[in-house]
Amino acid sequence: MASSTAPPLDLNNVQGDSLIGLPKKTQTYVFFQIDDNVKGFRTQLAQLVPLITSAAQVQSHRASIAQNKKTAADKGVPPPLLKLAGVNIAFSHSGLAKLGITDEIGDTAFDGGMLADAQDLGDQGTTSGGTFTPNWIPAFKNPVHGVILISGDSHVTTAATLLEIEKIFAVGTSNATLHEVLRLVGDVRPGDEKGHEHFGFLDGISQPAVQGVDTSPNPGQETVSQGIILLGREGDTVTRPSWALDGSLIALRYLFQLVPEFDTFLKQNPIPGLPPIQGSELLGARFVGRWKSGAPIDITPTQDNPALGADPSRNNDFRYAFPDDPQTQDRCPFAAHTRKTNPRADLEDLSPPISTETRRIIRRGIQFGPEVSAVEAATGKTVQGRGLIFVAYQSNIVNGFQFIQHSWANNTGFPIDKPVTPGFDPIIGQATDPSSRTLSGTNPNAQSNTLALPTQWVVPKGGEYFFSPSIPALKSTLVLAASS
Ligand code: HEM
Repeated sequence: MASSTAPPLDLNNVQGDSLIGLPKKTQTYVFFQIDDNVKGFRTQLAQLVPLITSAAQVQSHRASIAQNKKTAADKGVPPPLLKLAGVNIAFSHSGLAKLGITDEIGDTAFDGGMLADAQDLGDQGTTSGGTFTPNWIPAFKNPVHGVILISGDSHVTTAATLLEIEKIFAVGTSNATLHEVLRLVGDVRPGDEKGHEHFGFLDGISQPAVQGVDTSPNPGQETVSQGIILLGREGDTVTRPSWALDGSLIALRYLFQLVPEFDTFLKQNPIPGLPPIQGSELLGARFVGRWKSGAPIDITPTQDNPALGADPSRNNDFRYAFPDDPQTQDRCPFAAHTRKTNPRADLEDLSPPISTETRRIIRRGIQFGPEVSAVEAATGKTVQGRGLIFVAYQSNIVNGFQFIQHSWANNTGFPIDKPVTPGFDPIIGQATDPSSRTLSGTNPNAQSNTLALPTQWVVPKGGEYFFSPSIPALKSTLVLAASS
């Protein structure tokens, strides 16, 4: 529950990735376990705190990047990369328990951990002796106590920052207090694919604006209360321990994408009535809800419009109710990824309207893995792993990520009250039998026809729920003063 005595939000207190987003060309995630010398860990943690990048610092980093771009544009030269690093840290429930913090944050998904949630999220796995084990990589099937996020303009910058952090925790010496269990490195895709996820679609376009922080929202961009993202702020409906104020909960998913298989499916199933290449492009756009450029199909349903895709003043200005009817799939299938995960008029225009404010999340993922090779493209088979390190911030995982994945994307009847069954979100919807997925509305001229999706092209291989504490909480609750 929002504390009525909480002081006004100060961006110096909030870790920078949640509200503003660490700028990144590359990001390293170091997943760690805390060793038995917990006191030693908490003492060393004090030295990490000055390296943590606050939301206020991220704002100033972003201002420097914008200025750098402008200066270069004025000179007619390409902007030189600014050397900038960012560091954030977050802890899982088992990590907080290891630190002896027993005050519960008050989120059942976080408390149980993502491994215990995997079956409900629809991840594939096996059940033996009544216990479900997802098909995840081993590191995520064992306790992960925390994650350090290091972002930067280059691998050289992130490697130098990581070295500094390893020194703090005496890694490689007998005084080490943590050990790394997994390192993931994500990179923005090269060239024109910058900002696009591996299936080729521009990502990170639609984010909620946060009250008092994003003060000039773009047309169509919804403003949410601070407590939708930050614990203890107005709009957070759960009673939290006081030290949780201004923290945020993270859902991190290690999602592999079967890109050649996805591309082959689009090629083999073009929307009828168009030249094959256009028919395939339209099918992809109707799966996502946007063209590869980011242009929303609800605004431009028959052809891509890259200028619209790139224009923040127009690319979120739609509601799935053109001109005033959310009951058709003329422009966008009910089950398209963006419509499933943020249904706009589908719920807002019901009587009575259903607010989606508590379902909003801020996404900060990054791509991992190489570009598709010529051999993979020719054979339609993935050889090298690639995908998305999905990172979503919210104050309440049960209302946010967990609900979106379980009750929207995987729920064939969502959005509710439609004339035909929407089906699965073709991008992230998960079924017990992954080859049984279908959706309706892919063909605008035969909207009740269903299309069978033989493959689940996004494959979860792990993840965890984390708590990103405020900087004051790090100092007062997590860190132990050297003299204690
Ligand atoms: C590999 C997996 C995924 C891919 C390739 C993917 C791709 C995309 C793309 C291309 C967009 C449109 C661009 C934008 O609005 O930012 C988008 C939007 C979005 N995605 Fe995903 N996504 C993935 C996983 C997820 C997951 C796991 C969730 C949550 C459970 C999710 C939730 C959302 C939300 C909330 C939006 C914004 C919708 C809107 O406000 O219009 N995505 N995604």
